Amino acid sequence: MANTTPAPYTSGMDYAPFDKRFYPVVAPEAGYGEWAADYEATVASGLDRALLPRLRTVAWNQMRQAADLACGTGRTGAWLKERGVGAIDGVDLTPEMLAVAREKQVYRTLLQGDVAATDLPAGRYDLCTMALADEHLEELAPVYRQASRLLMPGGAFVLIGYHPFFLMNGAPTHYHRRDGEAVAIKSYVHLFADHFRAGTGAGLRLVEFEECVIDEAWLETKPKWRRYQNWPVSFALVWRRG
Ligand SMILES: C[S@@+](CC[C@H](N)C(=O)[O-])C[C@H]1O[C@@H](n2cnc3c(N)ncnc32)[C@H](O)[C@@H]1O
Repeated sequence: MANTTPAPYTSGMDYAPFDKRFYPVVAPEAGYGEWAADYEATVASGLDRALLPRLRTVAWNQMRQAADLACGTGRTGAWLKERGVGAIDGVDLTPEMLAVAREKQVYRTLLQGDVAATDLPAGRYDLCTMALADEHLEELAPVYRQASRLLMPGGAFVLIGYHPFFLMNGAPTHYHRRDGEAVAIKSYVHLFADHFRAGTGAGLRLVEFEECVIDEAWLETKPKWRRYQNWPVSFALVWRRG
């Protein structure tokens, strides 16, 4: 008998129906172009900094070449460099974010482009990272395919994301303009099943999965978020190629 089960959705759900803030929404390149100037001072650094040191399956200091997708201002690149990662190449959509990354001098090359279709060479990297960008991608499959293309066999793809639970509770990725106006950056909700399908579909194997809950240590970086205590706010997935 034919299987009549509908195919699972393959692109992210639009965030708009979940929104509770009703900020104006801008496209990623425009939003990060505007946010770049004070991004590092205002981003919730606990989102990734609480998770990266917890990962057990990546020997950072043995990574010789890394590709940092959606590298932004280079926060992840700087963290990787401090842990002994060798040459790091970064890709990002937004020139203003790349300009800040360039000043850090931790990247071998920095390219402007889409994470779904980079000009980086195939099979070169033993590490690929993407932090805090997946919610801006309508579809996950292309970036997972890209990570798989870039990695050498056995290489690791570390994806850190804003938790879908938090997003579905109506708090979008946003920044404040100089006049104080809050602006949201266009986002999509990706459930973990969506990540799993995209990753396995790209020939990757999930080897580690962590979630970060807002706790006292986290609140030291963003005291105003106390009303969200114990909420899951970010996650990390580590994939291996082959
Ligand atoms: C929240 S920032 C994260 C930057 C950096 N990874 C970090 O953790 O600080 C999101 C970044 O994703 C980039 N971005 C969004 N969509 C992108 C795409 N399709 N291709 C490349 N970069 C993208 C933005 O330009 C921005 O720099």
